[in-house]
Amino acid sequence: MKKLIVFLAVVALIIGCGSGGNEAPTSTTTTQKKETVAAVDGEKVYKQYCVTCHGLYGDMGASGAANLQESVLEKEERVAVITNGRNVMTGFKALLSEEKINAVAEYTFTLKEQ
Ligand code: HEC
Repeated sequence: MKKLIVFLAVVALIIGCGSGGNEAPTSTTTTQKKETVAAVDGEKVYKQYCVTCHGLYGDMGASGAANLQESVLEKEERVAVITNGRNVMTGFKALLSEEKINAVAEYTFTLKEQ
């Protein structure tokens, strides 16, 4: 019986890890690895607030938006632009928490040509 339980646990683990990869629905009940980068999903924030100008992959350039694939800004500088805005881009400090801005800034580093 004990073996069966162990077996089931292993299977559950494999299924849990294998499906979908990065975006598996997060369950709050299971013990997750220590809070890594951000509890907030930067991708979600990006898709909600940034794609209109930057596009899904960061290189759409609507309204003269900077190409985020080619951005050379450091994390802190990105956070600053996102928080306070710059020229045409409006700041997001009224809309997004510091945590979300951090997460989405982090996400912009993952944007690349598809
Ligand atoms: C209204 C259109 C618009 C939206 C919405 C928008 N941006 Fe921008 N973004 C711009 C423009 C335009 C620039 C270039 C600003 C400039 O010329 O100084 C820019 C620049 C940036 C930069 C600086 C890149 C660099 O290398 O200089 C970052 C980072 C950035 N945006 C991230 C974001 C994120 C993250 C979001 C969503 C939270 C977002 N933007 C939403 C228009 C937008």
